[in-house]
Amino acid sequence: MSRIFSGVQPSGNLHLGNYLGAIRNFVGLQDDYECIYCAVDMHAITVWQEPEQLRKNIREVASAYLAAGVDPKKSIIFAQSSVHAHAELAWIFNCVARIGWLNRMTQFKEKAGKNRENASLGLYAYPSLMAADILTYKATHVPVGEDQKQHLELTRDIAQKFNNDYETDLFPLVEPIIMGEATRVMSLRDGSKKMSKSDPSDYSRIVLTDGKDDIARKLKKARTDADPLPEKVEGLEERPEAANLVGIYAALAGMTKAEVLQEYSGAQFSTFKPALTDLAVEKFGPVGEEMKRLMADPGYVDSVLKDGAVRAAEIANPIVREVKETVGFLLP
Ligand code: AMP
Ligand code: TRP
Repeated sequence: MSRIFSGVQPSGNLHLGNYLGAIRNFVGLQDDYECIYCAVDMHAITVWQEPEQLRKNIREVASAYLAAGVDPKKSIIFAQSSVHAHAELAWIFNCVARIGWLNRMTQFKEKAGKNRENASLGLYAYPSLMAADILTYKATHVPVGEDQKQHLELTRDIAQKFNNDYETDLFPLVEPIIMGEATRVMSLRDGSKKMSKSDPSDYSRIVLTDGKDDIARKLKKARTDADPLPEKVEGLEERPEAANLVGIYAALAGMTKAEVLQEYSGAQFSTFKPALTDLAVEKFGPVGEEMKRLMADPGYVDSVLKDGAVRAAEIANPIVREVKETVGFLLP
């Protein structure tokens, strides 16, 4: 059987990249798969989070899932820390994963920066917890943005080594689902950098709760080059900022980049940016509005998370038991 798992960190500033690269894709999968969507709060604290803000941010992630169209009756929405199987399996995976594998993780290198000695141990072990998130449900498919590909390869390596070492076929080898025209949305200020929650500039990203004026202001200021849009996708190759805006347009409109260029080839950014603004307000605006409405009703969001945690644990606990038995722990 196929099962979907994905997670988003509640570290604030949920942005267009999170939406187009991940959250929006969660919705369509609900018809064909059993889906489990998580606010990965234990991942968030690998870098410092203010406790009060973290609580808000967990509800923000849950609200974003709901506002995007994840149906809490069909799918499971919950917070990672409320199902203890994640932490238990992560420890076992810490003993399966090799230090050499983790040393290759580019996200750790980026996040730890120059002062690696001062990064938390949790930040280093992050991918092993991510493998536990997925495999504690024996999930087979994981919808994510492109930046998570390496972590999913590591998840496969951990599953494979566990299966080999313990001579079992307990864990499936997960497949990433990286879909759409915006699997890697870039910063609006710098086409060589990924749009991210932690960029110090608010102008680098459109956040889910931005209103019409914010979206218009940020897109107006978005960096571009001086040329009109090309006729063909190949014409975007050396133009990262133009490629990014065309990709965002395509993803929002449900078109390919080639189709967008057919419509806008030869157009200046003074024409294209207002068109993109209108489209973003149309497609993105209602999600932000619904999110704000839900965040004003924490009682409802908390009840969704509570119900989700019970249902998630029902799936995870027997699998962790099976893992413990395989490893040789005594089961009470
Ligand atoms: P994070 O913000 O790291 O918790 O990411 C949550 C989800 O959003 C993951 O599936 C990421 O791959 C995806 N994501 C984050 N940033 C981007 C981006 N700039 N473009 C596309 N997807 C992204
Ligand atoms: N590492 C992911 C990110 O930063 C978040 C995440 C944690 C995740 N656990 C996961 C994504 C399991 C998919 C599946 O984007």
